[in-house]
Amino acid sequence: MFTAEAAYRDNVISRYLNLAAREVVAEIVARLESDRSPVRILELGAGVGGTTSDVATGLAGLSVDYHFTDLSTFFLAAARERFAEHPWMRYEIVDMNADLDQQPRYDVVLAANVLHNAHHVGKTLRQLYDLLNPGGAVVFIEACRAHCQLLTSMHFLMSPRPGQAHPGLSDVRAGTDRIFLEESEWLDQLTAAGLTPMLMLPDADHPLYLLDQRIFAAVRDAAA
Ligand SMILES: C[S@@+](CC[C@H](N)C(=O)[O-])C[C@H]1O[C@@H](n2cnc3c(N)ncnc32)[C@H](O)[C@@H]1O
Repeated sequence: MFTAEAAYRDNVISRYLNLAAREVVAEIVARLESDRSPVRILELGAGVGGTTSDVATGLAGLSVDYHFTDLSTFFLAAARERFAEHPWMRYEIVDMNADLDQQPRYDVVLAANVLHNAHHVGKTLRQLYDLLNPGGAVVFIEACRAHCQLLTSMHFLMSPRPGQAHPGLSDVRAGTDRIFLEESEWLDQLTAAGLTPMLMLPDADHPLYLLDQRIFAAVRDAAA
């Protein structure tokens, strides 16, 4: 847990991205709250809860139904203790490669450092579009280039077991032997899935831009 927290929370780019996630999710929830209450949030691959913890702080006083999900019961048990003060948080197993079709509707989907594990990013984004209520949004953090440190924590440790399908074999990454999508590819994939990109940070003139990790937010149009 300590190593994972260092990778996803206790470093300058994670602090920046998690605080941005806090602001963006709080803003979206505040916008939707007058129309639907509680606002339903699904967090995929929440893991050690590095992003959750900042996002939960930003939700104080707002009406939410927050589903903290991951593949592993280990993370759910730890999160139940860690977030015990939030009665609006629930804990469930959700495998985004298997379970998205059976999910109920949500208003916000949050995914920090997990969407690159999608077997087919385009299909997964389309499933997220389908499970979002109109006007809802997907907010996600992703690396857009492979760095040794990121590969060690995110890719090598998360590699599929022998016999399991590898992410990206048939999507935009096909034939390129890489796990992360570039930022322009994420924007294209979001648009192709019917989602409208509304934010990508840090900006190109920000010093942290060079670290190649981004937060994206995209909305399912209210009119769609
Ligand atoms: C790199 S960690 C990120 C953890 C956390 N979101 C953060 O940034 O602090 C990736 C997480 O995604 C989960 N994960 C991997 N594949 C997944 C899948 N197919 N569906 C749901 N979660 C998955 C892992 O169990 C792990 O907790």
